[in-house]
Amino acid sequence: MEKVAVVTGSSSGIGFETSLALAREGYFTYATMRDVKKADKIQKIADEESLSLKVIELDVDNEESAENAINTIIQEKGRIDVLVNNAGWGIWGTGEDVSVEEFKEQFETNFFSVVRMIQKVAPTMRNQGSGNIVNISSVAGRIGLPASTAYVSSKFAVEGLSESLRYELGQFGVNVIIIEPGVIKTNFFDSMKTAKKADEGGVYRDITIKVITGVKMMAEMGTSPKEVAQVIIKSLKEEKPLPRYIVGNDAAMFMESKKMKTDIEFENYMKKELYSE
Ligand SMILES: NC(=O)c1ccc[n+]([C@@H]2O[C@H](COP(=O)([O-])OP(=O)(O)OC[C@H]3O[C@@H](n4cnc5c(N)ncnc54)[C@H](OP(=O)(O)O)[C@@H]3O)[C@@H](O)[C@H]2O)c1
Repeated sequence: MEKVAVVTGSSSGIGFETSLALAREGYFTYATMRDVKKADKIQKIADEESLSLKVIELDVDNEESAENAINTIIQEKGRIDVLVNNAGWGIWGTGEDVSVEEFKEQFETNFFSVVRMIQKVAPTMRNQGSGNIVNISSVAGRIGLPASTAYVSSKFAVEGLSESLRYELGQFGVNVIIIEPGVIKTNFFDSMKTAKKADEGGVYRDITIKVITGVKMMAEMGTSPKEVAQVIIKSLKEEKPLPRYIVGNDAAMFMESKKMKTDIEFENYMKKELYSE
């Protein structure tokens, strides 16, 4: 039976590579994107390799768009085996500088859209008695970081959602898998917004600049998004996928360090990593 995968945010980076990787594994893949004018590159590769990949429009922030996309897929294929919740973006700024409105915008895409998409596919997967929901979190979903506080908070929320859903959906044969990449070389950092108040300067100016500079330097040497795609494929091949998969040496190092150190030791270690005190 032909397996069906749906990926959000397939126009670039991790979503782009994951859509292609799933199609190469034999999934009929819906590579969804909010702006289908960006489809040319992925469509060209799919055509050249004769992959079963179809681009459809999906803005994860938009209820109607999400409803239409999932309805189309169910009408066309009658099943969904994999949903990859990948669409996301970030905002620079401290907890005081990011306004509540900006926090809400960040959570709209990175958290509420994940809830939205899961609620739309879960009934189909439960009825099938099988399915895999892959949530792209981040190493920033496990460790706090200054000056990207809203982003970090949104990814921590994804972690809590995913861990809880594992109990709820697991009993129906539906797996929930968390992917935690470190710094990945994609458009992500170029697309990051900056909180309005942080842009205006103020008491957090220094820490914000230090973090942005440090992270952008790390991004130069970031892991390829192809590696994230391969870890996702590997997780889907496991009979019983693990709750979470870390991607990248940087992420592995941070997570190992967090495991070995007390909270205070880890905080001091991170201060040295991010900026010299
Ligand atoms: N890069 C990293 O270092 C890193 C590390 C850990 C986790 N992640 C996570 O990985 C995921 C993918 O990011 P990336 O690194 O691949 O960055 P990217 O190249 O900037 O890709 C982000 C994708 O999300 C899409 N998107 C944003 N808002 C959307 C919306 N409302 N509806 C539909 N699509 C939307 C973008 O579409 P447009 O082209 O239309 O903007 C783009 O396709 C994100 O969830 C991010 O938080 C990234």
